[in-house]
Amino acid sequence: MKALIVKNLRKSYGETEVLKGINLEVEEGEIFALLGPNGAGKTTFIRILTEGLAYDSGEILVFGRPLSKETATLIGYCPQESIAYENLTVRENLEFYADLYNAPKERVDEVIREFNLPPDKRAGKLSGGQMKRLNLATAILHEPKILVLDEPSAGLDVPSRRELWKLILGFRDEGKTVVMATHYMEEAERLADRVAIISDGRVVAVGSVEELKKLAGGESVIHVEGILRGAESIPGAIVKGNALRLRTPNPREELPRLIEALLKRGSEIRLVKVEEPTLEDVFVKLTGRSLE
Ligand SMILES: Nc1ncnc2c1ncn2[C@@H]1O[C@H](COP(=O)(O)OP(=O)(O)O)[C@@H](O)[C@H]1O
Ligand SMILES: [Mg+2]
Repeated sequence: MKALIVKNLRKSYGETEVLKGINLEVEEGEIFALLGPNGAGKTTFIRILTEGLAYDSGEILVFGRPLSKETATLIGYCPQESIAYENLTVRENLEFYADLYNAPKERVDEVIREFNLPPDKRAGKLSGGQMKRLNLATAILHEPKILVLDEPSAGLDVPSRRELWKLILGFRDEGKTVVMATHYMEEAERLADRVAIISDGRVVAVGSVEELKKLAGGESVIHVEGILRGAESIPGAIVKGNALRLRTPNPREELPRLIEALLKRGSEIRLVKVEEPTLEDVFVKLTGRSLE
């Protein structure tokens, strides 16, 4: 079942078209990332999906049915900026939004436990990580089947980011669907089952991280250090002193072959590293521009 189908979605602000025909399909139960630089149109797309922002043309299906007030209740939204009231406590915020979304009152205690939130602390006094967790908890109060996140880890420190990523993966592991926008390559690489690369209002490529790297002809580099004997005779190997580099599209197959060849020649290996191509490399290759 497709959680989401988007066909030829277009949106202009005044004279400027910012979504130029977005096409994508999100499978139920996957984490789907929209990866693109600032200004690519990610937030506009997400606001159409979650806030009822008007669009010019195209079609959006949520579990097979047109996006409407009714099907929108299947979607939970965690925007980039916090929506918590700073003067209310965590519990008061959650009770307010539970009312708004017609979520049962028991859900408030459930999410407080699940997200390890301090119920009586004022939202304004929360750390960045706690605030993000409060917003995530708010987004899933009504138990949506699809969770939409806009730049989830923006502004978070490394430990809070890791914790947030675990929560997002946990949501997927419950069989729910996640759609997230990010300009942060590592976030897409770590979390996403599939990534849509967005540039200038268009989807320029879709696939798993591995597929995208292949699509762009991404080659890995195997780097070996040690006392290397006879390494010059290994096809493709570039040897400099006690280091060797070998470019390959298939590091998983090439690595054991290379090690065996080196050992056979009597080398002593001290360090082996595979430098994989990144999604940044893919983005540059596809668009001629950089992600940042
Ligand atoms: N409310 C708005 N009015 C006019 N232009 C907007 C508005 N919101 C976004 N834009 C423009 O639309 C483009 C896409 O922005 P946005 O969807 O926020 O991209 P992203 O989230 O990928 O950074 C940008 O050029 C931005 O300046
Ligand atoms: Mg944005």
